[in-house]
This record gives sequence, C-alpha cells and structure tokens, in this order.
Amino acid sequence: MEDDWSQAEPFRIKVVEPIRRISRAEREQKLREAGYNTFLLRSEDVYIDLLTDSGTAAMSDWQWAGIMQGDEAYAGSRSFYHLQEAVADLFGFSLVIPTHQGRAAENILFTVMVKPGQFVINNMHFDTTKAHVQHKNGIAVDLPVPEALVPTDQSPFKGNMDLDRLDEFIRTHGRDRIAMIMATVTNNSAGGQPVSLANLRGIRKIADRYGLPFFIDACRVAENAYFIKKREPGYQDKSIRQIIREMMDTADGITMSGKKDALMNIGGFLALRDGELYRQATVWAVLFEGFPTYGGLAGRDLEAMARGLYEAADEGYLAYRVGQVAYLGQRLKEAGVPIIEPPGGHGVYIDARRFLPHIPRDQFPAWALTGELYLEAGIRTVEVGTVLAGRDPATGENVYPELDMVRLAIPRRVYTDRHMDVVADAAARVLARREEVRGVRFTYEPPLLRHFTARFEPV
Ligand code: F0G
Repeated sequence: MEDDWSQAEPFRIKVVEPIRRISRAEREQKLREAGYNTFLLRSEDVYIDLLTDSGTAAMSDWQWAGIMQGDEAYAGSRSFYHLQEAVADLFGFSLVIPTHQGRAAENILFTVMVKPGQFVINNMHFDTTKAHVQHKNGIAVDLPVPEALVPTDQSPFKGNMDLDRLDEFIRTHGRDRIAMIMATVTNNSAGGQPVSLANLRGIRKIADRYGLPFFIDACRVAENAYFIKKREPGYQDKSIRQIIREMMDTADGITMSGKKDALMNIGGFLALRDGELYRQATVWAVLFEGFPTYGGLAGRDLEAMARGLYEAADEGYLAYRVGQVAYLGQRLKEAGVPIIEPPGGHGVYIDARRFLPHIPRDQFPAWALTGELYLEAGIRTVEVGTVLAGRDPATGENVYPELDMVRLAIPRRVYTDRHMDVVADAAARVLARREEVRGVRFTYEPPLLRHFTARFEPV
C-alpha cells in the first residue's frame, strides 16, 4: 500500500555524495544572482534538489556492474540486444530504437507520423512533447478528465483521458485530421496522476473504431502500474509486470524516457510493433540520434537501462518509491500546506494560489513560492504554472492555467524520509509567515520557453 510506511528503504547505501547547506545570507545572494529563477541556480548551492525526477536517480550496484560490462560498438552491440530483450520481455514490443532521451524518441515518432495541420490528442502533453508536435506543424490537444483540475478531488485515476470528449473530438474534426492518440502515464502535467487500465482500454477501443494509432508516453509506466495494482478493481493479485504488459498491450508503441522509470541518468527509446513504421523511423533515427542500435548512447548506457527497467518493475521498490512521495504529501497536508490530492507517483505538487492567496496571478504566486522554499531551507523546486504557460501568441497576454503549482519532484532512491521531513518542515515555516511573501515581476522575459531563462525581482 502506498501509505504503508512500516518498511524502510529497500536498499543499503553503498556510495554517498556529500551535500551541504549554505547559509541563509548566501542563499539570498545566490537567488538574487540567479534572477530568482531556480533553473539558474548551481546545484552545489542547493541542499535538497527537487527540481526534477528526470535523470537524477541513483543507479544500483547491478546497473553499475552493467556499465562495466557494456559492450561498445557502433553497430549490433551485445548491450543493444540486452535492451531489446528487456523491452520485449517487459513491454512486449519487439522493435526498439534507442535515443539519447525521451523527447528524441518523440522527435522521431512525430517526424514520421504527424502531417502539418494534424492533431495529436493526449490526456495531457508534457511541455517538450507539445513543443515537438508543434515543431512538426501539428496541433497538440489535451483532453484530461475534469477532476484532473480539481486539487482536492480524491478520484483514484485523475490522470485519465476524457473518453467522451475524445470521441466527440474525432467526430468533429474527422479521423484524417488526427495523427495519433497518446496517453501519458503517469500524467506529469496533472500532478503525476495515474491512468487506469480501463481508460487505456477505452482509448484503444476508440482508436480502433476510427482506425487511429495509439501510443503511450511511458516515462513513468512502473509507477502507474503500481497505482493500478493498489487502486483498480481486479488488479490486486496481479504482478506489476503483468499489469505493465496489459497496459502496453493497448498501444501500438511507446516513447520512453529512461531518465524516469528506467532509473537512468540519460537515455530513452522508441518501441514499436509495426515493421513498416520501424523502417521509416530508423531513417530519422540515423539522422537525429545515430545508428539504430546505439541511438546516441554508449553501450554501457544501453546495458544499465536494460537493467534499470527490471528494477523499476519491482513491487518492493515501487512500494518504497510511491510510499515516499505519499509520505511527503501526508506530512505537508498535516502541516496545512494545500497540495494536489492525492499525491502522484513522482512528486508532490503544492497549490500555490491557495498557499499564497494574497499574491495576484500576474505576480506569479507559484514562482514566488519556489524562491521562498530555496531561501527557507535550500530546497529547489519548479513552477508548473503561469510562467511555464507563457503568453498567447495572438494577444501577447499571459495564459492563466487552471492551477498555479509548485512541483516537488523526488529523485528515485536518492533522498531519505529525513530529507522529506526537512522539506515538509520548511514548507510549514513558509506557510506560517506567508503574508510576508511577495510576488515577482520579470526583469528579463525571453520570447519562448520563458521559464528556463527568465529573470525576476520581488515586487
Ligand atoms: N514525457 C513526459 C511525461 C515527461 O515528464 C518528460 C520529461 C518527457 C516526456 C521527456 O523526456 O526529458 O527524457 O526528454 N520530463 C522531465 C520533468 C524533464 O522534469 O518532468 P526527456
């Protein structure tokens, strides 16, 4: 159970990386120098880094052994075949193209599949996924279930796609205008919320009705499978690996970021069933990534990724992993911090408009809160809110998303529950003095993807 904390971390710590907390005065200076943008901080000035769960996992001794045993070859390396066997065994896809990370797999897939003016429909696109659709002159459409946007709604599968709207959308626009349907598991942009197997099967049925391809963005597939086991009727007695396979059986292929549920620091892949699609994809793979048996990665990376896929599909690991996120969520809730409930698989998202109700939306409450958490205890988080959403290209006005959130993404196997206590206590202290917290305004605003490089000052 995700709230079963009777078991401690299912590993011993064999190697450590010292971290340090600089003084409050130094943090003030560093944040000022970074233009109040947590992306622009140096990680050595961060005490607990919750910027992302991507590429930040601790690898196991078995993965490190794989790094030594990796077979370096331009073409046909042993390690490539190990990866291919792991993907076939766990996911059931026989055709695999490694890529340097997840978005590179999307780049190849969309290059082949998306014609200008066509739609890609997703429960919710991740931002770079959306950008890759747009880069191919496609149109990215999000069709989440309505409860995805209600922070206190306790529904078990808030990551689901709205199937009625999906069917209606296809009927309205016509199947020829749809390049593909995608499901992102878990749904990162909605708080790391899971998608149910019933929903995936429902999408497959609609895809079949209209003869449309269906792909899964499988970055966090193991965490999603764990939620299915815990929450979806009929799955309690199935193994994680059975559930993963049933999820994959609904799809024509997947894009995968190995930086999440393959417990890797870099890597990804595209996995497919259809030979013709694979042949088309390999052409672009060579151009963008490298020969299709290495795809921009070293043999050692392929080896460690194959092993990481198995480790992430282990139920004991997942109980710890999802349990740690739930633990932080529980601690924050007890302290009165408004969060997106229930917590997702890879992090806890704070509802910043409820946390800082006195800060107007155009002074970016969630952004302001990322700065405060750093000042308070050296904790680095990221805004998923108005700054990230950018401006409407037509009007030049800020786009105000439904929610202004601060994401506390937890790296896999890296921090202990003591670190989580420090995070929760810091958030509680900021909450206690929230009236003092001021909004921020731009001192520099880049025209595109502004959150990465923008600079701010307090209002
Ligand atoms: N899809 C989802 C749902 C993601 O969360 C990410 C990355 C990607 C695709 C792209 O994968 O980074 O390997 O190219 N998410 C990271 C994050 C960056 O912090 O959430 P990538």
